[in-house]
Amino acid sequence: MVVGPERPRRLRRTPALRRLVAQTRVSPSDLVLPLFVKEGIAEPAPIASMPGVVQHTRDSLRKAAVEAVAEGVGGLILFGVPEEKDAVGSAADDPTGIVQVALGDLVSEVGDQTVLITDLCLDEYTDHGHCGVLAQTPSGQVVDNDATLERYASIALAQARAGAHVVAPSGMMDGQVGAIRNSLDAAGFSDVAILAYSAKYASSFYGPFRDAAECAPRFGDRRSYQQDVANGDEALREVALDLAEGADMVMVKPAMAYLDVLRRVSDFVDVPVGAYQVSGEYAMVEAAAANGWIDRESVILETVTSIRRAGADFVLTYWATELARMLRSKV
Ligand code: PBG
Repeated sequence: MVVGPERPRRLRRTPALRRLVAQTRVSPSDLVLPLFVKEGIAEPAPIASMPGVVQHTRDSLRKAAVEAVAEGVGGLILFGVPEEKDAVGSAADDPTGIVQVALGDLVSEVGDQTVLITDLCLDEYTDHGHCGVLAQTPSGQVVDNDATLERYASIALAQARAGAHVVAPSGMMDGQVGAIRNSLDAAGFSDVAILAYSAKYASSFYGPFRDAAECAPRFGDRRSYQQDVANGDEALREVALDLAEGADMVMVKPAMAYLDVLRRVSDFVDVPVGAYQVSGEYAMVEAAAANGWIDRESVILETVTSIRRAGADFVLTYWATELARMLRSKV
């Protein structure tokens, strides 16, 4: 067997060579940490299906935010879990609701050092657990797209007033980005950016999140509004619509099982693209690592590097703070 003049192994020979030619890098500033804050608890509450992640009190939330920012994490995305839920998700746009007050805390604590993002949806706030308000039809209860847009427009204002730099609509209602943009602009919040969860799939990987946000739907599922796992082209249509409606950044979610979609989206757009490494992706790695079946730290780094390689400019990951620390210690 004769080997030709090209020997790709030459550039893999030493750590220094590999570092020099590495095409994809992950830095702390590419990472966004999702945080849960729950109303009415005295101590942080662990989430059984997400070992290492908690529902925060206002106080522990502030500390987690300061810690993330100290490690150089690029942004924080906040999810609220209110004590009282109702059919229209009233706590979502209540100025004294948990997300709004906790966001206020973060604004004063770290607001000038990081990007504060709010998830903009109804499922954490509705008693039925759906991402919109319901309407009765002859065939049963359905999520009413256009009535939900009015709620989203109002939630966007509440979050902007509380100091959000970026709002991130995740409900997959048609027209949601346009409704939110109009509402923000009309109230003088033209500087508040929109990160659209544009290609969000109806995924079983969200299971643990629904424990964290206490938002499993009481009936049915989310398939009438989130995208079908089988479809790729549809992601580009959703992204194009969101951009036409004024999205500043777009997102693909989940990440690992959708790297093909992520690559297509990042080739297709010229705005920043995010990817959400969701709760089930986190839980799988933690579970396998706890059993000693995989090397936890190297798998974390491999997954996030691969998500970046597939085209994500930034990655939402529950490991953001820890990974930032790991990356800093490697330099
Ligand atoms: C909806 C929302 C969900 C997630 C983020 N925003 C849940 C869903 O659509 O069912 C999931 C995130 C994760 O699984 O980590 N507000």
